[in-house]
Amino acid sequence: MDIRQTIRQKRRELSQAQRDNAQAIIYQKIKKHPAVSQAQHIAIFLSFDGEVDTKPIIEYLWQQNKSVYLPVPVAEHKLIFLNYTPNTPLVKNSFGILEPVIDKTKIINIEQLDIIFTPLVAFDDRGFRIGMGGGYYDRLLENYQQQQIYPIGLAFACQKVDHVDNQHWDVKLPEIIYA
Ligand SMILES: Nc1ncnc2c1ncn2[C@@H]1O[C@H](COP(=O)(O)OP(=O)(O)O)[C@@H](O)[C@H]1O
Ligand SMILES: [Mg+2]
Repeated sequence: MDIRQTIRQKRRELSQAQRDNAQAIIYQKIKKHPAVSQAQHIAIFLSFDGEVDTKPIIEYLWQQNKSVYLPVPVAEHKLIFLNYTPNTPLVKNSFGILEPVIDKTKIINIEQLDIIFTPLVAFDDRGFRIGMGGGYYDRLLENYQQQQIYPIGLAFACQKVDHVDNQHWDVKLPEIIYA
């Protein structure tokens, strides 16, 4: 079985107690994070396939009056981001992930995002990640430094591997919050 499938399975097999413990630590780290405190426009994702549950993070960000955005995949493996509020209608996309119904008035320019919480399947100490295989976040984050966007990966410790066999297009994350 390839690394992507192996890690996805491990992640799905975490018990509820393991998830709760790890997520409590992750949520605390986010609440104390200076870049999160300073940010206004924050992109995140809705969890699926056993990913770290982002719903409590989103609730926290709303409480803090942050503007929250969710990705919607469009043509050519690109992502656009739409403002997400408690009233935003959601639909299941072809991956089975909930996403906002497209409303052009809710789209934010990528350069305006301060933080992009980034999903991942596996990661290593250097910050290299393996995603779901579409290269969406590699394309999205290609110029993140010039755009003054700060990407933060979110993961469980069981998703850490010794070495990601990275390719030239793979973007190294400056930070991954995991527990
Ligand atoms: N910045 C980019 N520009 C063009 N194609 C890209 C870019 N980043 C990734 N890709 C393409 O996307 C595909 C999937 O990338 P990969 O890194 O394997 O997936 P993932 O990061 O989702 O695990 C690759 O075939 C790669 O050529
Ligand atoms: Mg990649």
